[in-house]
Amino acid sequence: PAHRIAVIPGDGIGTEVVPEGLRVLEAAAARFDIPLRFESFDFACWPYYERHGGMLPPDWRERLMGFEAIYFGAVGWPEKIPDHISLWGSLLQFRRVFDQYVNVRPARLMPGLRSPLVRRDGTPRQPGEIDMLIVRENTEGEYSSIGGRMFEGTERELVVQETVMTRHGVDRVLRFAFEQARRRRGRLTSATKSNGISISMPYWDERVRAMAAQYPDVSVDQFHIDILTAHFVQRPEHFDVVVASNLFGDILSDLGPACCGTIGIAPSANLNPERRFPSLFEPVHGSAPDIAGRGIANPIGQIWSGALLLDFLGYRAAHDAIVRAIEAVLDPASGGPRTPDMGGTARTTDVGRAVAEALRTG
Ligand code: NAI
Ligand code: MG
Repeated sequence: PAHRIAVIPGDGIGTEVVPEGLRVLEAAAARFDIPLRFESFDFACWPYYERHGGMLPPDWRERLMGFEAIYFGAVGWPEKIPDHISLWGSLLQFRRVFDQYVNVRPARLMPGLRSPLVRRDGTPRQPGEIDMLIVRENTEGEYSSIGGRMFEGTERELVVQETVMTRHGVDRVLRFAFEQARRRRGRLTSATKSNGISISMPYWDERVRAMAAQYPDVSVDQFHIDILTAHFVQRPEHFDVVVASNLFGDILSDLGPACCGTIGIAPSANLNPERRFPSLFEPVHGSAPDIAGRGIANPIGQIWSGALLLDFLGYRAAHDAIVRAIEAVLDPASGGPRTPDMGGTARTTDVGRAVAEALRTG
């Protein structure tokens, strides 16, 4: 049977880059003989909100439940709806209700992109020197809503917000990260801060050690988050899989792609690895109202997210082929099309077509 994929373009450039992502997914499906069935939904965008008074239909959960994956563009149109309503009313509901407890972001220096990082001798980092996967815990940790305020407005004002770590929650994200390390270069780095955060972070470290015992083939190290950010900048070649709690992972998953020249082409996946609920694949960028409607958005983040989707469904060769096709188009030697954010004059569709073509012929 075909894999059922819900397509939600959302707002702004989401509606421009999603069709290019689908074009490439369809080319991959044809080449690798993958049965995919797409179904599009018009909710999670401001026009839907204007018509219905909400971002999602009341039965959104039932309507999306039967899908293996959601291929998402971007949501948000501040001129029409405040961001906290549009994002909390859609994307963040998906992540929570569908228990997408792993957030994955690859950070890989692509050809033709200039990393802001240099080697010790001052020469630029080359493609291939940075290739890491940041695995962020996405449901608990520092982002709990447990806490409160007391004595508001007085000098005794007091605010508390708790970190929550459960054995179930920590172990499941660690297991996912170790499995990824095993299929990559066999190295895992854990982000910690057990020298300062003296209760929860030592627990995290303890669970890392327990999980490491089950993966003797994976080499493990850990760094406190402060020095870890410095290592990202000074020796990014060291890192393969990096696993982190919700807050530390949030920071690292912006820093990693930024070290690769731009977060504009970065992809991400929000996963429920057991597949009890749909997982969601989306570019890191938002709806970009400043360039929306002009056909010049860079579709690579969306296309790369499609590669992550196929990998999740078990089609690793198709994933690798899409990444290679992106690299072929971006390679300056190929003279491939580039959108204005990458210094070119190409249109969104030119880039989508070129990647699909590279995938067919490469
Ligand atoms: P943004 O990522 O939409 O745009 C930031 C800057 O990067 C803009 O100058 C934009 O033109 C440029 N940019 C982004 N993606 C690009 C692409 N594919 N090609 C070329 N240039 C690109 O972030 P911003 O402006 O802070 O947010 C705009 C709206 O998007 C807001 O409503 C925000 O809440 C929402 N948003 C939604 C996200 C999501 O759906 N996951 C993530 C981030 C923001
Ligand atoms: Mg962030």
